[in-house]
Amino acid sequence: MKKIAIVTSGGDSQGMNSAIRAVARTGLANNFEIFGVRKGFKGLIDDDFITLGSKEVSDILYRGGTFLQSARSKEFLTPEGQAQAVENLNAKGIDYVVVIGGDGSYKGAQALERHGIKTFGIPGTIDNDIPLTDYTIGFDTTLNVVTNAIGNLRDTMSSHERVSVIEAMGRNCGDIALQAGIASGVDAILIPEVKPDIEKTAASIKKGFDRGKSHSIVIVAEGAGTAEDVAKQIKDLTGLDTRPTVLGHIQRGGTPSAFDRVYSSRLGHKVIELIQEGITGVGLGIESNQITYHSFEDIFNAKNQINEKLYQIFEDLV
Ligand code: F6P
Repeated sequence: MKKIAIVTSGGDSQGMNSAIRAVARTGLANNFEIFGVRKGFKGLIDDDFITLGSKEVSDILYRGGTFLQSARSKEFLTPEGQAQAVENLNAKGIDYVVVIGGDGSYKGAQALERHGIKTFGIPGTIDNDIPLTDYTIGFDTTLNVVTNAIGNLRDTMSSHERVSVIEAMGRNCGDIALQAGIASGVDAILIPEVKPDIEKTAASIKKGFDRGKSHSIVIVAEGAGTAEDVAKQIKDLTGLDTRPTVLGHIQRGGTPSAFDRVYSSRLGHKVIELIQEGITGVGLGIESNQITYHSFEDIFNAKNQINEKLYQIFEDLV
């Protein structure tokens, strides 16, 4: 019986559990033995494996986070850490490893592949920053969390005639800020991919208030600056009452959206199909609503870019 180990690594994201369930249930139905590795790559080094039967993955489809838990393992970056992980995998006779995580986790998956372990990557990060896929698991849920938070802030900001500067996560990627900005009709977004012009932003906010607007909303992606700094600059330039809000880890929680549940189920299911076709060493994703896959090398060689069309749409609608 061939064996598959599933690892969730890096920052957790909503939908990781549904991906684990999909790999496990599809694998079990096709006579694979399934193991979960606890606490990311650290669990590989510490030999922290659990057997996953159908029952172990029931009741997790709709839960945020990862029931296997996650970690950012510094030890796995060392040759000794990787050698220990490979030794543990070989001792257990694991044939395939499925890594669910972001770009750092993909680097780990590629390292395993280089050590001769057949590996797959499932893009699990709220940041939507993995190249060659339109979406990562968790991004859609986070977008909804951020959109709801902006709605709440709008209520109180308009009661007090204030400017709200909201800091969104995303590391070096502005997708959360951009798409939440479009979904919420905010007045400005500051993202790392586009050089900010704070004077222009402040002038247009002031103009809005002068025309009778009761509030203004600005989203700043964490890769472009902090809410506190931007709020201070806008206050200094406009004299308006301005409040910074850092949404923080709230963005990583909550039940996964229907999209993330379906998407992660499709990805997990596809891993087993790829094994049966003899394809390994790839990261999966979705492009034009088709589940696709690319070698880790191609993924790392491709550059993650902002969707210029969406940015244009934001600018045309603001
Ligand atoms: O990669 C996901 C992410 O939430 C980023 O958006 C953020 O910069 C980072 O992780 C926060 O990491 P931590 O949870 O370790 O503070």
